[in-house]
Amino acid sequence: MIIKDEADFFIRDAKATDVAAIYDLIRPNSEKAMMLPRSRYKIFSRLQGFVVLEEKATQRIVGCAALVILWGDMAEVQSLAVLDECRGSGYGRKIVECLLEKARALEIPKVLSLTYQVEFFSKLGFVVVDKNTAPRKIWGECLECPKLENCDETAMVYYMTPADRPEM
Ligand SMILES: CC(C)(COP(=O)(O)OP(=O)(O)OC[C@H]1O[C@@H](n2cnc3c(N)ncnc32)[C@H](O)[C@@H]1OP(=O)(O)O)[C@@H](O)C(=O)NCCC(=O)NCCS
Repeated sequence: MIIKDEADFFIRDAKATDVAAIYDLIRPNSEKAMMLPRSRYKIFSRLQGFVVLEEKATQRIVGCAALVILWGDMAEVQSLAVLDECRGSGYGRKIVECLLEKARALEIPKVLSLTYQVEFFSKLGFVVVDKNTAPRKIWGECLECPKLENCDETAMVYYMTPADRPEM
């Protein structure tokens, strides 16, 4: 399904045929430890949460991300990546905004990101929170992460209702 249709690109739900492109977008960044690695199996098994950004002229997939539901009150942005040469064009912002729309439609009030890209997510309205406010996340996928005890990512949350945002 097409979620956003712009002049040069569209953002749509991912298909099974996009998995190779998604894998290729994530791998160089995970090799630089900028994001968690994702096997093809993991991408297939999470495919229903993935969106991709496809350039109309080239039909290339140049961006991707997944919305993963953690619990009734929280979802997480995972596997966000934009191709190196396409960064700075607003693609990352558009992809995250699509995931926020999905979370809103699902009536999930908070969206988490564990990230090194604090400035990027701040510009989209995410605020830094204490990592311990995401216990279900910590007891889930984080247990598989070699950095568990020494996690150096920043936890950030987008609140659907501005009134829910903590005082800064
Ligand atoms: C993070 C990433 C997705 C951003 O994508 P992008 O398409 O370049 O971002 P955008 O062009 O939409 O940027 C939106 C805003 O954030 C800012 N921004 C983007 N990356 C930034 C960065 N690394 N540091 C500071 N600001 C940044 C932009 O300047 C822009 O600001 P503006 O709205 O005032 O013009 C991309 O750099 C990437 O794929 N990085 C490697 C993988 C990664 O770190 N993923 C995040 C995992 S949580």
